[in-house]
Amino acid sequence: MEKIKDLEGLPGIGPKTAEKLREAGFRTVESIAVASPKELFEIAEIGESSASKIIEAAREAADVGGFLTANELLEKRKFIGRITSGSKRLDELIAGGFESQAIIEAFGEFGSGKSQIGHQLCVNVQLPIEKGGLDAGAIFIDTESTFRPERIIQMAKGVGLDPTEVLSKIRVARAFNSDHQMLLTEKTVDLIEAEKIKLLVVDSLTSSFRSEYVGRGTLAERQQKLARHLRTLHSIASNQDICVFVTNQVSAKPDAFFGDPTRPIGGHILGHSSTIRLYLRKAKGGQRIARLVDSPNLPEGEAIFFVTENGIEDK
Ligand code: GTP
Ligand code: MG
Repeated sequence: MEKIKDLEGLPGIGPKTAEKLREAGFRTVESIAVASPKELFEIAEIGESSASKIIEAAREAADVGGFLTANELLEKRKFIGRITSGSKRLDELIAGGFESQAIIEAFGEFGSGKSQIGHQLCVNVQLPIEKGGLDAGAIFIDTESTFRPERIIQMAKGVGLDPTEVLSKIRVARAFNSDHQMLLTEKTVDLIEAEKIKLLVVDSLTSSFRSEYVGRGTLAERQQKLARHLRTLHSIASNQDICVFVTNQVSAKPDAFFGDPTRPIGGHILGHSSTIRLYLRKAKGGQRIARLVDSPNLPEGEAIFFVTENGIEDK
């Protein structure tokens, strides 16, 4: 039997349905194979029994890649690239820097340094490997108009790179709403294939979702959409060997949103999708404290760093 590669190759999926599925983040036969009938049925507006049949066919056709031995997995993980944050302490907290094949989420109150880290990573990813970079460019999806080229210039000077060259290797797009944000994320797939890019920043991941879905009535819908967005980000991180850095503000008004003010917007879905989660807070003397939370394979701990004229530093 010939291997089915495209969604259109699955029984019951025409070009229109395939398009809808791709827009929702289902780009491969494998992604369909692990979907639930309910998800497909809601996204593609097909009957539930056709959805089940499509999934069944996808499961047969899917390339599951087989099992790796644990030492093979260890070997594969050795190739993960790491980007320095500029702070040794922060890097150590996350086992040596911001890694590729992962989503790293920073959540915290306003001014805690989330966007500053995003900017710094856009600069530092361009450093040569021996200096803590990956010798590659970055993409910045900006949902709050916080990207500042002027700040990039300061940070580039801080690490001794040519500011003009650094600016030319950062692609910035302003996302106007959550649909636009999701579309832009989809589009990065081609850009990453065409150019040497190792970092994707989404700052902020959740603000548009948050403002568009006010009140609890639409919470389920929002979470489902956020989950789809994260599925795309995960596939970019792991299939294209990219470090995905996302920011997330904590809710200031507990009643208006989630119960605990120090819990990030997005709740459980985001919690389970992030590979590494950092909780940032401001402390006295301009200190910033990063705490590693919910990480399955790293010890819990904290790191103190500073935001200075040069960028993120230990000081
Ligand atoms: P929200 O997006 O509002 O949730 O906050 P955030 O966590 O993204 O905060 P951000 O990373 O933008 O941090 C802003 C803080 O960084 C400022 O309050 C300053 O303390 C610091 N900062 C930003 N730019 C500079 C700079 O050029 N020099 C210095 N010394 N500090 C800066
Ligand atoms: Mg910010």
